[in-house]
Amino acid sequence: MNLQLNNATVRHPAARAHAPAALRGLNLAVAQGGQVAVIGPSGAGKTTLLQLLACAQRPASGALQLDGCDPWALPRGALQRLRGRLFLAPQLPPLPPRQRVVTAVLAGRLPHESLWASVRSLVYPTGIGLAEGALARFDMADKLFDRVDRLSGGERQRVGLARALASQASLLLVDEPLSALDPARAQQALASLTQAARERGATLVTTLHHVEMALAHFPRVIGLRNGALAFDLPAAQVTPGHLHQLYAQHLDELTQTAPPAPDAPVAAAPVPMQCR
Ligand SMILES: Nc1ncnc2c1ncn2[C@@H]1O[C@H](COP(=O)(O)OP(=O)(O)OP(=O)(O)O)[C@@H](O)[C@H]1O
Ligand SMILES: [Mg+2]
Repeated sequence: MNLQLNNATVRHPAARAHAPAALRGLNLAVAQGGQVAVIGPSGAGKTTLLQLLACAQRPASGALQLDGCDPWALPRGALQRLRGRLFLAPQLPPLPPRQRVVTAVLAGRLPHESLWASVRSLVYPTGIGLAEGALARFDMADKLFDRVDRLSGGERQRVGLARALASQASLLLVDEPLSALDPARAQQALASLTQAARERGATLVTTLHHVEMALAHFPRVIGLRNGALAFDLPAAQVTPGHLHQLYAQHLDELTQTAPPAPDAPVAAAPVPMQCR
């Protein structure tokens, strides 16, 4: 699925009246099969961007286009079908206690299935091979029939990623998938996610606090700051200066000093390579 944002602004319905918009005047185009990492400090608007692309937040102004059409101009049924072609994986997947891993993973397919098939798969999971294959990509195939409430946080997070792959969606929107994973698992998880998306030609937009992982695994990196685009560059062109400017903004505000130029040398200022 290809996506385009034209001057899109988003305000959360529950935000205070005078709070600045969570996203301001965003322009973005991602072709089908494109892979983009979104980085930026906490509160920059990364999750809101995924919600906007998932048609979970409506733009207050500007426009979103998915495969060339405005989802908010579609009739309700067509909007539901479109939502079934995309998958938003939240940072912590909502997994009901006592559910088996296999059922949790196959729940990713629900938007594509008939009501009858969905109900039946909750009682007797069909497509066990699909779930096992998706879990195997994250080294979790041996947990197929375990209960989700008996998994570690990192294992639950990997179940969430396997669920995203099982969804067969053509637009994968993944929010901070590495927060509960150790460095080796995080590397493996991102490699598996990007490879699986490539194999099926799905578009992948992932928010990440691990900047070095974003640069290593994604061809294109977007920096968000205060709801606006700070940069949108091929990973190889992101400099330590860009990162310093992206993450050091609050420090700049406190000290009232100007941030360094985007191409400033590495040694001039320590670069935060992780936000957490
Ligand atoms: N449900 C909500 N209601 C009102 N305001 C919200 C809501 N969710 C987020 N916001 C506000 O929108 C802005 C962007 O939030 P968002 O969650 O998109 O940031 P983020 O970059 O994902 O941050 P983090 O790295 O901490 O996850 C913040 O100012 C936040 O306070
Ligand atoms: Mg977030």
